[in-house]
Amino acid sequence: MQRVVISGTGLHIPPFQVTNEELVAAFNEYARRFNEANREKIEAGTLVAMEPSSVEFIEKASGIKRRYVVEKAGVLDPERMYPHVPERSNDVLSLQAEMAVAAAKQALEHAGKAPQDIDAVIVACSNMQRAYPAMAIEVQNALGCGGYAFDMNVACSSATFGIEQATNAIKSGTARAVLVINPEICSAHLEFRDRDCHFIFGDVCTAMVVEAEHTACPGSFEILGTRLATQFSNNIRNNFGFMNRFDESGIGARDKLFMQEGRKVFKEVCPMVADHIGGHLGTLELAPTDVKRYWLHQANLSMNQLIVRKLLGRDATEQEAPVILDEFANTSSAGSIIAFHRHHEDLQPGEVGVISSFGAGYSVGSVVLRRL
Ligand code: COA
Repeated sequence: MQRVVISGTGLHIPPFQVTNEELVAAFNEYARRFNEANREKIEAGTLVAMEPSSVEFIEKASGIKRRYVVEKAGVLDPERMYPHVPERSNDVLSLQAEMAVAAAKQALEHAGKAPQDIDAVIVACSNMQRAYPAMAIEVQNALGCGGYAFDMNVACSSATFGIEQATNAIKSGTARAVLVINPEICSAHLEFRDRDCHFIFGDVCTAMVVEAEHTACPGSFEILGTRLATQFSNNIRNNFGFMNRFDESGIGARDKLFMQEGRKVFKEVCPMVADHIGGHLGTLELAPTDVKRYWLHQANLSMNQLIVRKLLGRDATEQEAPVILDEFANTSSAGSIIAFHRHHEDLQPGEVGVISSFGAGYSVGSVVLRRL
């Protein structure tokens, strides 16, 4: 059986950083203006006043300190509260494709590959900029890759689900090497006027080259196994879609952006992920303690600490489960790949690590790697 590896990764970081302090100041000013504009209704008890957000709450509840965004002024403008990104004409590279190309070029360079070596491009992320043509085909064209390309969406789990598709393509011989790219423009689906979630997400793009071991550079990471699972839940949901115009009353309503029951997600997803990873390792005759590093999805610091505690029976060190959400916030499918990109060089040949992503669906994916 063909052995498959991850041979290169790339990370594109958008140009603007937003701190919790900046975000909270904009939110609180928005809330103050809202309450002032609606003072009569609030005093009459027909409207609930908006409560302020706080930096302390955000850091304690999530571990997030800042995030990157594709555009900052619109997010921090209390009269707007979402990014301002002008539309581009059809003959110009789309913003999401531009991010994907930047990350993919880094991954190709890291893997020592040319675009002509790639037979498939998978754009795997939570939100596509448009319905069609596929973002992946635009990226394939911009890079000059051959073969085929397609988009896929399994929300925060998209990267691990994409790695499994890439692995299968190589094992079955339909591709020599595959680019899996996760361009996440989360600021576009985030309601910055909702204090329950205005701090959660950031924008970023990651990319990986997945290929056959015999063509890969030394020091690559062999994919020992992938395991995917899904279980339906409405606790993370976004009803935006191409049928929204069928009912005018719903256009622009709150449910057409990201919504979640954060507490329920926390309680239900942590055991699911710990069982999933433990079970996957078991099929490979590995124990959780055999794993040198856990590159976990980056949504919430306490969530990751709990998952690894369930696996190891003790608290993990920073080296065992690296954290990047303090700098990036939740970047959906890209989070676990940023952790891998930033924290893999020190692993020694033979050492094992696990990439795991989880989120809406629910969905959970794990990829067990061994350094060659
Ligand atoms: N500033 C200050 N207070 C806030 C606030 C803010 N920005 N947002 C919420 N609060 C308040 C709430 O109104 C609530 O007040 P109450 O107790 O008077 O009702 C209190 O703080 C606790 O809110 P809650 O939403 O229960 O906090 P939490 O500890 O569950 O943390 C999350 C919220 C979202 C950080 C956390 O639930 C989480 O990360 N869950 C997992 C999410 C996840 O992984 N999702 C996957 C998405 S891809």
